[in-house]
Amino acid sequence: MDIIIASDYEDLSDRAHRMVLTQMEEHTRTVLGLATGSTPEGLYERLVADHRGEEVDFSKTITFNLDEYVGLDPSHEQSYHYFMHEKLFDHVNINPSNIHLPNGQALNLTHECERYEAAIDRAGGIDLQVLGIGRDGHIGFNEPTTSLQSRTHIATLTPETVEDNARFFDSKEDVPRFAITMGIRTILDAQKCILMASGEHKAEAVRRAVEGPVTASVTASALQMHRNAIVLIDEAAASALERKDYYRWIQENKERLAGRL
Ligand code: PGA
Repeated sequence: MDIIIASDYEDLSDRAHRMVLTQMEEHTRTVLGLATGSTPEGLYERLVADHRGEEVDFSKTITFNLDEYVGLDPSHEQSYHYFMHEKLFDHVNINPSNIHLPNGQALNLTHECERYEAAIDRAGGIDLQVLGIGRDGHIGFNEPTTSLQSRTHIATLTPETVEDNARFFDSKEDVPRFAITMGIRTILDAQKCILMASGEHKAEAVRRAVEGPVTASVTASALQMHRNAIVLIDEAAASALERKDYYRWIQENKERLAGRL
C-alpha cells in the first residue's frame, strides 16, 4: 500500500484528480470505478472544470459505480444515479451507454448482481477504482463481516451507516436499509485502487484499515492484499496512524527517486 498524506481536503482532491487524469491520458479507453459520498466531490468538481476547459475527454471512458441503494428510483435525489449525473456525468462528454450503476429497482436483485459483475468482466475489468471509507471501515457497502471473497451482492446497511447517511435524507427512517454493492473481490480485481479519506471522524477507520490485521470486520483492510492500492488521506484522517512519520519518509524519498526515473 502507498500511503500518501495530503495537507487538507483541497490537496487531497488535487492529488486524486492528478491520478485520475494521468490514468485517462495514458489510456484513452479507461474503465473507471467510481464512488459516491462527500469525499470524491472535490475530484469530480475538478474533472468537470477540466472538461469545461476542454482538457479532458470522456468519450471513451467507461464507468462502473460501486453501489446503489435498493428501492430508490434513479430520479430520487438521494439515489447514486442522481448523484453521479449531478456531480459528473451531466457535465462531461461521457457516452451514456458507457455509464454503469447497479439497478436497485431490479425485480430480481440476485440476477442484477450477476448481471453487473458480468458487465464489469465484459468491459475488461476496472482499471482504476476510486473508493471512500465508512466509519465502520467499509468500502462500497461492504459492511463488517462481508466476505473478503464477495462479488457484487445485496448488502444490509449497518445502523452506523444508516446514521451517517441520514444527513442526506429527511429522516433516518427514509434511509434505505439495503444496497447493491460490488464485493471485496470485485474491488480487489481492479488494476489500481485509490482509497480517499478526509477528516478526523475517519481517522480510526483508516488506522484499522492500514495498520490493523486484514479482517472482514474492517473490509477496507482487504486493500492490504492489493498489489496497487493507494491510500490518499488528509492530515486529519491520518491523525491516528502510528507510523505516520514513516509513511511521510517513504513519500519524500519516492518523490526524490521520481526525479531520477
Ligand atoms: P463519505 O462516505 O465520502 O460521504 O464520507 C464514504 C463512505 O461511507 O464510503
